[in-house]
Amino acid sequence: MFRTAPSLTRRTKLTISQILRTGFLTSMPPMPKVVQHGAGGEVLGCASCHLGSGLGHPESANLAGVSAAYIMRQLADFKSGARMGEAMPDISKDLSDDDARQASQWFANLNQKLWQTVVEADRVR
Ligand code: HEC
Repeated sequence: MFRTAPSLTRRTKLTISQILRTGFLTSMPPMPKVVQHGAGGEVLGCASCHLGSGLGHPESANLAGVSAAYIMRQLADFKSGARMGEAMPDISKDLSDDDARQASQWFANLNQKLWQTVVEADRVR
């Protein structure tokens, strides 16, 4: 018979109650498909580079808490060629307006937070 170790059970219950208390499961809409998996063609899932948290990496960008209007504008500029880039011009070319809107709203609703520290080179020892 399968039994869960008591410590694991306690830890799991705590995590679930913490998640419910923060309202994460109840107030957040599900992650849009385009963010998680992409939409085929050149459109890879946004989360694969910008992360599910939206905080991104230095080579991509933070999108968490950025206004949906700004994100939509950047996507349109990548698409038209008004803004250059490494990854985004190809991705935005195949991105539908509806997916762009869903992704923009998703990232705009995430909490922005600092998770990288920039240190001036002459102060590094
Ligand atoms: C393969 C990695 C990758 C994927 C997938 C990706 N991005 Fe990006 N994104 C980047 C990089 C790299 C940049 C910096 C500009 C460039 O080089 O294209 C960027 C920049 C951006 C910017 C501009 C941010 C700013 O501060 O101006 C927006 C908006 C954006 N991405 C939205 C998206 C959305 C929405 C998706 C999903 C449809 C997505 N990205 C998928 C790598 C990616």
